[in-house]
Amino acid sequence: MKIGIETISMYVPRYGLDLRILAEHRDVDYNKYHQGIGQEFMSVPSPDEDVVTMGANAAQQAMAGVDPTDVRTVIFATESGIDQSKAAAIYVHKLLSLPENCRTVEMKQACCSSSSALHFALATVALKPKEKVLIIASDIARYGLESAGEPTQGAGAVAMVISASPRIMEIGPEVGYFTEDVMDFWRPNYKNEALVDGKYSIKVYMNALEHCWKHYQEETHARFEDFDHFCYHLPFSRMGTKAHLHLARHEKAGLSSKELQAQVDPSLGYNRITGNAYTASLYMGLLSLLDNNDLNLAHKNIGFFSYGSGCMGAFFGGSVLPGYREHLNSSERAAWLRDRHHLTYEEYLSFYNHSLPQNGHNYRTSRHRSGAFRLAGVESHQRIYECVPAGAGASAESVKALAAAPAV
Ligand code: COA
Repeated sequence: MKIGIETISMYVPRYGLDLRILAEHRDVDYNKYHQGIGQEFMSVPSPDEDVVTMGANAAQQAMAGVDPTDVRTVIFATESGIDQSKAAAIYVHKLLSLPENCRTVEMKQACCSSSSALHFALATVALKPKEKVLIIASDIARYGLESAGEPTQGAGAVAMVISASPRIMEIGPEVGYFTEDVMDFWRPNYKNEALVDGKYSIKVYMNALEHCWKHYQEETHARFEDFDHFCYHLPFSRMGTKAHLHLARHEKAGLSSKELQAQVDPSLGYNRITGNAYTASLYMGLLSLLDNNDLNLAHKNIGFFSYGSGCMGAFFGGSVLPGYREHLNSSERAAWLRDRHHLTYEEYLSFYNHSLPQNGHNYRTSRHRSGAFRLAGVESHQRIYECVPAGAGASAESVKALAAAPAV
């Protein structure tokens, strides 16, 4: 029985900041962002966007053509949770009118809980092949203003339906795992921004990669040359290149640097223009690879390395199915990415500094350009979500109005 990805979709906010503007305001050579860390543009969520709205927007697309009554499990992977108790999956379950006979949970382990969600989903479908699992990975990567992590910020969501009738990719059951207690990146409950030791994080990422690959080899006897392409967790796009060269050196792969680049480069494109999206980042990399029109990926083997700070890693493999391109909506995705509104520096600061009331007072968010769902406000400590009628997006004028107004 083949089990894997039946549908996959992605959502990013309709606003972003060109890193040329950030470089100018931080008095940094743009080449450091563009070449040194490999970033050009970062997604910035508007005040009426959060992980639920982004997740619901991605999930709505992933559910197109899927019978909702087949979905018995919804797993929401995030490290930007909106509640300590209630799962974000329940809000999405309601927004998408999914059937009530469904289990809905949220998972956390930094950027790699989406991959654990995937592996739990594979096990669920292996046990109950008629059931499908909806996985949502949604995050807002937020670092301090003027911190080293600031240019790697981003936001977005990926949703996938996992089933015994995959149309995009079959995923193998074997996984190489690694866990170690380290403090490279974390976010205490009282902070809105992550704390990160970026250089240390790169070191422990590489160490986790080596251990996961070794464990994967022990489980499968796989060789580096068994894979045609690789997708890595991408806190910034250059990390994918660094990780791939590291693994190739470790394995004495004997490929030219051009051949190695060709194995990893197609997965980096979306990260360069959206930034980090934590749990969604690896799977945005997969979509970046799949959407590449120059490659016919049918029957190609893809190696995945998922990394979550703290830390846990997972290495696993998948094989692309013939006909995958027909189920991707690549041109709609390209149009969405192209049409995003470019924020001024002042608008970026105003979005960044916006926060919801902490005292539960009733509050309405101003309307911005969004997808099909938006955060309408807060009432009695409860987030209120609403569906947006098609074509009802706000104009750039409301961004300017917010930029002029003091943060809440
Ligand atoms: N032109 C071209 N390249 C330049 C440059 C310039 N003018 N200036 C610097 N660079 C290069 C550096 O040589 C370096 O390349 P290298 O990695 O190959 O050595 C790269 O740009 C980054 O420069 P560095 O001085 O190391 O940057 P930094 O101190 O600002 O930190 C990160 C970079 C990535 C560590 C930082 O952005 C960060 O912490 N990001 C968050 C990472 C994260 O979230 N990790 C946790 C999850 S995995």
